[in-house]
Amino acid sequence: MIGKLNHVAIAVPELNAAVTRYRDVLGARVSQPQALAEHGVTVVFVELDNTKVELLEPLGEGSPIASFLEKNPAGGMHHICYEVDDIKQARDRLQAGGARVLGDGEPKIGAHGKPVLFLHPKDFCGTLVELEQV
Ligand code: CO
Repeated sequence: MIGKLNHVAIAVPELNAAVTRYRDVLGARVSQPQALAEHGVTVVFVELDNTKVELLEPLGEGSPIASFLEKNPAGGMHHICYEVDDIKQARDRLQAGGARVLGDGEPKIGAHGKPVLFLHPKDFCGTLVELEQV
């Protein structure tokens, strides 16, 4: 059911420091920061040949990554995103298999303008999983 790895998202307390690390130490191609107010994050895309890494910094009040950073002040892997062809079909199959979908279970438009869902980390080995319909 799941397709390619779309991205790995890393929550960071200081986006500029993270960009410097990735660009200057790892030698990665990084995008300009993009403020996504409706998602409560500022994101930088680290472009790799086979996938991308997203560096997320909290933006505004009630950012969805704020509590994660309280527990992980140095930053850490926040979620992993897999591609699916049909997100509602994937959701139904996952729920039938006992996996919990976060929120009301309806896909939302994610940071890339495509439908996404998040799956409960306790159902996936302690990792928050995002599904994105591509
Ligand atoms: Co994501």
